[in-house]
Amino acid sequence: MNLNHKQIDSFQQQGFLVLENFVSEPQCEALRQCANKLVEEFDPGERFSIFTTNEQTRHSDLYFLESGDKIRFFFEEEAFGQNGELVQEKNLSINKMGHALHDLNPVFDRFSRNPDLANVVQNLGMQKPLLLQSMYIFKQPKIGGEVHFHQDGTFLYTKPHSVTGFWFALEDADRENGCLWAIPGEHRNALKSRFFRNEEGDGTEMEIWDETPWVKDDAVPLEVPQGTLVILHGKLPHMSKTNRSSRTRHAYTLHLIEADTHYPDWNWLQRGSELPFRGFE
Ligand code: FE2
Repeated sequence: MNLNHKQIDSFQQQGFLVLENFVSEPQCEALRQCANKLVEEFDPGERFSIFTTNEQTRHSDLYFLESGDKIRFFFEEEAFGQNGELVQEKNLSINKMGHALHDLNPVFDRFSRNPDLANVVQNLGMQKPLLLQSMYIFKQPKIGGEVHFHQDGTFLYTKPHSVTGFWFALEDADRENGCLWAIPGEHRNALKSRFFRNEEGDGTEMEIWDETPWVKDDAVPLEVPQGTLVILHGKLPHMSKTNRSSRTRHAYTLHLIEADTHYPDWNWLQRGSELPFRGFE
């Protein structure tokens, strides 16, 4: 698998690239089964960490901050009723798992380090890619939360900028079940903000550099069939709306950076020395 010049040009112009049939149906099914098994084995216990798009509460939790070298589970914001009980079954309540699936789970490790992806990453011009984080996103029926417009570089900062997102549709994604939306060409502008870990290391803050809002009317829906890989430039604004349909919208995402960049210790995602970041090897 190699990208042709037209595809590389298109990625550079638009800031995203859609590659249908990148993942076979059995592979999608294997990843979905593996994810479902992990959720089955997960005992929420006393601790419920809710993934919310409200930056105030979203990442203040150490459960999130310590997940860079673990597999942790984050609930949908609307997963709980008034008395703190789950409104839907546990397997229909988890928003996502993250952020080291690709290093800790053999199925996701094998999938993430497949030669086709390594080729595509090389075609895009990455020299020494590191697989920084992975997420399995469930986008649950009825309660799948909205993710507001953002640039991935806000959350995974390197100097110079290098983060690139790889979004694998493990099920059909359309407007009904909360597909991605992106603003073509907007990746050529600067990062508008940075999300950083506070000096105490127990919370996070957002620093806004540019308050001009994106022109949301310019956004296009990326409706894609199961098996599609969507590559997202790290400065491309993208979002997804709530999933009010009765279907799930499972996706697996990987974020890669260049090894030869500066990765600040104030980035939220950090790892212990026992699990260093690795590339495709
Ligand atoms: Fe993103």
